[in-house]
Amino acid sequence: MSNDTLTIALSKGRIYKDTLPLLAAAGITPVDDPDTSRKLILDTNHPDVKLVVIRAADVPTYVQYGAADLGVSGKDVLMEHGGEGIYEPLDLGIARCRLMVAGRPGATDRAGRLRVATKFVNTTRRHYAAQGRQVEVIKLYGSMELAPIVGLSDCIVDLVDTGNTLRANGLVPLEHIADISARLVVNKASMKMKSARVKDLIRRLTDAVVTAI
Ligand code: ADP
Ligand code: PRP
Ligand code: MG
Repeated sequence: MSNDTLTIALSKGRIYKDTLPLLAAAGITPVDDPDTSRKLILDTNHPDVKLVVIRAADVPTYVQYGAADLGVSGKDVLMEHGGEGIYEPLDLGIARCRLMVAGRPGATDRAGRLRVATKFVNTTRRHYAAQGRQVEVIKLYGSMELAPIVGLSDCIVDLVDTGNTLRANGLVPLEHIADISARLVVNKASMKMKSARVKDLIRRLTDAVVTAI
C-alpha cells in the first residue's frame, strides 16, 4: 500500500470484535462496519489509516509481503505460518484459547503411527517430531472434531476454549501444545520505513492492553 497510508489487517469475527476496543483506545475507529459493508478496505477516522478484513489464516501472508503494514493474528496461525518477514511486538491478550491434541479417551496411548486430523499441519508435524513419534497428518479446513467420530483419524489438533465443542462430541483434551492469544504483527520493512508511525501505534496499543488488564 501507499507510503503515507498505514494498513492494518484483521479477520472478521472474534479477532475483529475483540480488537475494536483496543484500536478505539489507541484513537482509531472504523467508519464502515464489516458485518454490513461488502467493502474489503475499511476507512477509519484517520484518512491515512485503513483496515483490511480478510481470512484469519491470510493475515500473516498480507503482513509478510507488506500488503498490510500491521495485522492482528492468532498465535496458532503465526506458528503455522512460520513468521517469516514478520515482527510480533505485542501480545494483545485477546482471543485466548489453547492448541491441543484431542480425541476419545486414551486415543493416543496405542503404539504405532497415529493419524492426526488438523488444519495446523506444520505445527502438528513439529509437535510430534519433537516427541520422535511417527504420525500421518490429514489436512482439514474445519470441523476437526468430526474426524475421530467418523474414523477419519485417531485424534485431532485443534483450538480449545471452554471445551464445549469437545464435550458435545464425546472427545477429551489429551495433550497441551501451546497457549494461544492474538498478537500484533508488523511487516519488517514497514517497521523501518514507517518507523515513527508504526512505533507510535505500538505504544498506543500497548497502553490500551495494559489498561484492559
Ligand atoms: P477461523 O474462521 O479461521 O476459524 P476464527 O475467528 O474462529 O477464524 O479464529 C480466529 C482466531 O481466534 C484463531 O486463530 C485463534 O487464535 C482464536 N480462536 C479460535 N477459536 C477460538 C475460541 N473458541 N476461543 C477463543 N479464541 C479462539
Ligand atoms: C473454534 C475451534 C473449536 C472451538 C473451541 O471453533 O475450532 O471448534 O472453537 O471452542 P470451545 O472449546 O469453547 O468449544 P469456532 O467457534 O471458531 O468455529 P469455526 O472455526 O469452525 O467457524
Ligand atoms: Mg474458528
